[in-house]
Amino acid sequence: MEVVIVPDAAGGGELIAEAVARLLRHKPDAVLGVATGSTPLPVYRALAARVRSGEVDTSRARIAQLDEYVGLPADHPESYRSVLRREVLEPLAIPMSAFLGPDGTAEDVPGACAAYERALAAAGGVDLQLLGIGTDGHIGFNEPCSSLTSRTRIKTLTEQTRSDNARFFGGDVAQVPQHVVTQGIGTILEARHLVLLATGEGKADAVAATVEGPVAAICPASALQLHPHATVVTDEAAASKLKLAPYFRHSYANKPGWQGI
Ligand code: PGA
Repeated sequence: MEVVIVPDAAGGGELIAEAVARLLRHKPDAVLGVATGSTPLPVYRALAARVRSGEVDTSRARIAQLDEYVGLPADHPESYRSVLRREVLEPLAIPMSAFLGPDGTAEDVPGACAAYERALAAAGGVDLQLLGIGTDGHIGFNEPCSSLTSRTRIKTLTEQTRSDNARFFGGDVAQVPQHVVTQGIGTILEARHLVLLATGEGKADAVAATVEGPVAAICPASALQLHPHATVVTDEAAASKLKLAPYFRHSYANKPGWQGI
């Protein structure tokens, strides 16, 4: 995988927004897989600026959701469908009709998961999947020891993830749902380009395990090592435990400009 160390979160946002812009120039109806959480916000901000300036045309782009809480009404402000409408679709001027996501309110959860897998396949698959990483190494909501070949399904959140996410629920961990549906690791690995953004010192251990540890279900993000086109973008703090940081800096500094990420 390629590791790009950027000075800060805003630099990561600009770099990834440029990769999305490049993709949309050659494939205007690309399927963009998006993530929630705090980390991807600089990417969405940088993309929205490009949309406003006319540099990027998102009118035919499609958006695919990575994961969703089970049991939150779709119009709850913290359902990921609501978060993505607010943080991605509206700023990028993309209509809800171009949105693909699992139904976290369905009574038949396995049926909703299977329907989402079918919808992703019918859309032609995800072109670029943006990922965050949990402090426990999760991608999507694939918690440690998720099968590396898993498909979209229900998962139970770890207490660590629920406590990490309590800040979105007024700091009250009891309000964070126990269950989620998430694209599986096998589903995520089918996207044509994976771009994982990690910022802050709190992610340094998870980044080191992802990039330099073994491929192992205990660190779900380590599955990126199996993907032919995976890019890990980190700020200095999240890269602080990478032994090969000097090599990653050297190789990116000497990369031909036309290549992109
Ligand atoms: P964060 O979440 O960006 O809010 O840290 C990342 C994740 O849990 O995937």
